[in-house]
Amino acid sequence: MKTTVPGPKSQELMRQLDGMQAMESIQFCIDYDKSQGNYLVDADENILLDMYTQIASLPLGYNHPSLIRAMQDPSNLKHLVNRPALGNYPSVDWPQRLEASLMAVAPRGLNNCMTLGCGACANEHAYKAVFMAYRRKQRGGEPPSQEERESSLVNQPPGSPPLTLLSFSNAFHGRTMGALMMTHTKWMHKLDFPSIDWPIADFPQYKHPLLGNTEQNRREEARCLQQVCSKIEEYNARGTPVAGVVIEPIQGEGGDNHASPDFFRQLQQVCKDYGAYLVLDEVQTGAGTTGHMWFHDTFHLPSPPDIVIFSKKMMTGGFYYTDEMRPTEGYRIFNTWMGDPSKVILLEEMLRVIRDEELLDNVSRVGKKLVQGMTDLQGRYPSQLSGARGEGMFCAVDVVDSKHRDKILTDLRNSGVLAAGGGIHTLRLRPTLIFQEHHADIFLDIFDDVLHRNK
Ligand SMILES: Cc1ncc(COP(=O)(O)O)c(C=O)c1O
Repeated sequence: MKTTVPGPKSQELMRQLDGMQAMESIQFCIDYDKSQGNYLVDADENILLDMYTQIASLPLGYNHPSLIRAMQDPSNLKHLVNRPALGNYPSVDWPQRLEASLMAVAPRGLNNCMTLGCGACANEHAYKAVFMAYRRKQRGGEPPSQEERESSLVNQPPGSPPLTLLSFSNAFHGRTMGALMMTHTKWMHKLDFPSIDWPIADFPQYKHPLLGNTEQNRREEARCLQQVCSKIEEYNARGTPVAGVVIEPIQGEGGDNHASPDFFRQLQQVCKDYGAYLVLDEVQTGAGTTGHMWFHDTFHLPSPPDIVIFSKKMMTGGFYYTDEMRPTEGYRIFNTWMGDPSKVILLEEMLRVIRDEELLDNVSRVGKKLVQGMTDLQGRYPSQLSGARGEGMFCAVDVVDSKHRDKILTDLRNSGVLAAGGGIHTLRLRPTLIFQEHHADIFLDIFDDVLHRNK
């Protein structure tokens, strides 16, 4: 480290940006030419071990040679230069590209995929797929009436029906208007924006350590499931039927909140009982970060979920869906670009690297080391840390309060480690899939030092 972060050069660049855009969120500027692998180099030439990786969206680290080769391949240039309107005019090699990338890792039973720009955009369109499938079912296969078509144009029923979606406390699904209605993490994201009264059920709040609190946590899950049922009944009875339930397999922004496979299996059964579709938002948990391509694979659901949403480490936003969720007309889920083929080419290459270098095994192995290391530290600094937990590289530990958590994050950053906050007082780590044992050692040493200084 040469300076504290942001250093003087970053601060000057931030001043320049401030003259052009309101971006209070900017933390510092990065020199992407110099950044490599798990290390980023900032404008002041500080070298940081990046354990937050562009908001959990960088699967293979900085400037991975395979991705650079893919982008330098002359046969791929056309995909960089000519951005197509994929929903209208895909390229001649698009079917083969999709087959080799997204469809090669499609969750079991989800035979269709839609590419979109980002996580929020993918959520929005997935919700539309839910509503369309629900109404198709209600119409019994009949086409929409003239009255429905016309009333939809002026936002009135029956064309714009009073359907709802159920979401969970502490959920995060994005910041566009529909996704925001399903997001419940911080008032800062939501304040001043009109919303609709859609049902919200509690996401289980586990008591840590898990060993020793099994019974209490099981009761907590049962309580939340009971709440899901009563909310669905309440909203159905009001004439605002719940068409779908949207949930993260592990809540990320909300504070790394886990629930058991059994919770998800029962939730799927509840959805089936009430005729609601189950949507899993794997934007943050997907693409190998937990040691599984899709974290819901570990739930062993009796049947596939209806929709799985992805973005972040998948390089492109979008969602997988079952045949039942497939729109029956064109333009129902659509926008100009519908994603970006150059990102899908990167994804294809990334999946090859994951396979060739057995990165899912790496993620599981190094992730265990990270959690074990944090568990040891929590034993040594019990007044500061608790609840160390993780699945693969999706790791977190709770800090005694938010002020102390933020101080630790600042100290880590000034000592050369970039980590992030989540929930109220959680410190979360989202390293790349190529993060190795020695990187974990470096982090744990620095973390130890920071905790020692903050005793
Ligand atoms: C679970 C989940 N869903 C959706 C989103 C929104 O994705 P984006 O920021 O790409 O719109 C996020 C972003 O953090 C997320 O964690």
